[in-house]
Amino acid sequence: MMMKTNKERLGIYIHIPFCKSKCIYCDFVSVTNQSLTDKYFDYLLKEIEMYKEVLNQFKVVTIYFGGGTPSLVDALYIEKVVNKIKEYTDLNDILEFTIEVNPGTLNREKLEVYKKVGINRISIGLQSTNNNTLKMLGRIHDYDEFLDSYNLIREVGFNNVSVDLMFGLPGQTVEMFESSIDKVIKLNPEHISAYSLKVEESTKLYKLIKKGVLEEPNEEIDRVMYELLIDKLSENKYNLYEISNFSKNEFESKHNMIYWERENYLGLGLAAHGFIDNKRYGNVISFNEYFNIIDNEIKPVEETSVISEEECLFEEVMLGLRLSKGINYKKLNEKYNIDFIKDHNQEVIELLEEKMIEMNNESIWITKKGMSVSNAIITKII
Ligand SMILES: C[S@@+](CC[C@H](N)C(=O)[O-])C[C@H]1O[C@@H](n2cnc3c(N)ncnc32)[C@H](O)[C@@H]1O
Ligand code: SF4
Repeated sequence: MMMKTNKERLGIYIHIPFCKSKCIYCDFVSVTNQSLTDKYFDYLLKEIEMYKEVLNQFKVVTIYFGGGTPSLVDALYIEKVVNKIKEYTDLNDILEFTIEVNPGTLNREKLEVYKKVGINRISIGLQSTNNNTLKMLGRIHDYDEFLDSYNLIREVGFNNVSVDLMFGLPGQTVEMFESSIDKVIKLNPEHISAYSLKVEESTKLYKLIKKGVLEEPNEEIDRVMYELLIDKLSENKYNLYEISNFSKNEFESKHNMIYWERENYLGLGLAAHGFIDNKRYGNVISFNEYFNIIDNEIKPVEETSVISEEECLFEEVMLGLRLSKGINYKKLNEKYNIDFIKDHNQEVIELLEEKMIEMNNESIWITKKGMSVSNAIITKII
């Protein structure tokens, strides 16, 4: 009989920095020139080799291919990465294995390979069901193409699918967003992520807003949309388990929970971030640097920071309050030798009175009402 080990859990994030074209709002690290694909994967495999001790030290429980557009590249590249990881660790303890896919880049063959290598969860980016909105955002697909991809994913037999939506988009009315929510609910995915548009300075969207071509997001409309989202999804048995994430029972993203609960994760590839043994690190963001550093047999890490005890507490509170289950202050008190409620007495009393938070004898959490102003609540508490 195999001996049971007590290895700590590990998540793995792998960044695939290629997209067919760049959406106007997106500041994720990705390029549209695919000529570096082959070289990139060669170097990614070398990077994995450099982490063989880490892979051996931990028990891998989740893997997440993110991007960029992981479904753009030939699925054989994905297979090679998985096989490389398997050289250093078995994947017997894998609970969740996700790949992000985009409509317009998928086919049956790719999905069959994903299945074969053990991928058991698909996260598909829709953003909106309105074709004009999709066009305005620079998406490469319309709603029908999304439906084709979604149906194909189901046909190939994936039973854990997440759909991404965005709201607060230029020109998007509350009715338009409601229609997107309704159509997605009808498809019955196990998980829905819905993000309020963030205007990032490096994007085309930012320039278009500055020039007055597109309108700036409006906080009030954004709040109305978010409250509508929470109501509609909860009526349809989706639990809000994190500010932007909703799932059917048992379908919370296990990989994302690793981030939010500050467990260890390895970040591989250009611009990926990791958190191992209380150290956070970020990889370089330029292809040339990535290749050159790996040529020198050094991990392509740009910055590392050891998290002090004070920062650790700050992170636990900040990340924990994003979750509907909140933070277990009783555990925090023991771990950091503090009295959390006493230390934040005035703020807690006020927020309780305003029904923005609730608490019991061990936890404190943001209420459904508080979720739409969660940033302000978190700032007030920490
Ligand atoms: C890693 S991204 C991209 C995944 C995939 N390539 C796609 O486009 O569908 C994951 C999700 O973040 C959201 N997102 C990206 N940029 C955003 C922004 N500026 N504001 C709000 N949400 C954003 C989108 O919903 C997107 O699907
Ligand atoms: S949103 Fe997705 S597809 Fe669009 S540019 Fe960003 S990563 Fe690429």
